[in-house]
Amino acid sequence: MKRNLKIILLGAPGAGKGTQAELLVEDFGLAHLSTGNLLREAVAAETPLGKEAASYMDAGKLVPDQVITGLVEEFLRNAKGGCLLDGFPRTLPQARALDQMLAKLGEKLDYVVEVRTDPELIVSRLAQRLVCTSCGAPYHAQSKPPRQEGKCDGCGGKVERRADDAPETIRRRLAEYQEKTAPLVAYYREKGILFTVDGNLARAETYQQIKSKLGDAGE
Ligand code: AP5
Repeated sequence: MKRNLKIILLGAPGAGKGTQAELLVEDFGLAHLSTGNLLREAVAAETPLGKEAASYMDAGKLVPDQVITGLVEEFLRNAKGGCLLDGFPRTLPQARALDQMLAKLGEKLDYVVEVRTDPELIVSRLAQRLVCTSCGAPYHAQSKPPRQEGKCDGCGGKVERRADDAPETIRRRLAEYQEKTAPLVAYYREKGILFTVDGNLARAETYQQIKSKLGDAGE
């Protein structure tokens, strides 16, 4: 019996992390931290953090490590049960900072799920992506449109394209991933907690791969 799962979702921009996160959070009752969603909220609210982050995000670059780790530390302190980290860590310094934060709290990571998706498929999916500006829920203009055009099925928020889903910015984000985030695959594989699922499959099939690896860990 294990309810206090700590899971990281790792994968390139558009690999399907947010899509799988929705399913995992519901099934396993995890608190969800999407650093991308948190940053977009800060940008929309024009907070000092949002103002600092916006220029990096619009350029398809990663926001500086120290900005992000502060946000995550606060989330972890308040997350009582299990949690799902989606979009964090993205650099080796972030991964090491996370190890330290968890050690301080007497916790540890259980799994790192790598969602691996072909870059051509990513580019075509992101060109059709729509997101809820309130809760961050991902949609797809063709394969998963909101039931009512422009309105989130879950929270009723406004659904629209993301500013950083322009083709040029997508290319930059993919390059950042290769350079700064892909090394985390080896980092977590060495720790023996990483498994990889196929993000090229249909949503439910990818999720089935995750569930079968997690087994009854969340029961
Ligand atoms: P973030 O918001 O985390 O963006 P990302 O990593 O680029 O990932 P995405 O949200 O683009 O994609 P996803 O993998 O969640 O895919 P989705 O499920 O939506 O970060 C944005 C920015 O914030 C970064 O560029 C950076 O500047 C900053 N940032 C965030 N965290 C940071 C950190 N830790 N450090 C520094 N900077 C940070 O799917 C994509 C589309 O495909 C959707 O339309 C979906 O419906 C569709 N789809 C998904 N799966 C399938 C499927 N199986 N079949 C068909 N369609 C599918």
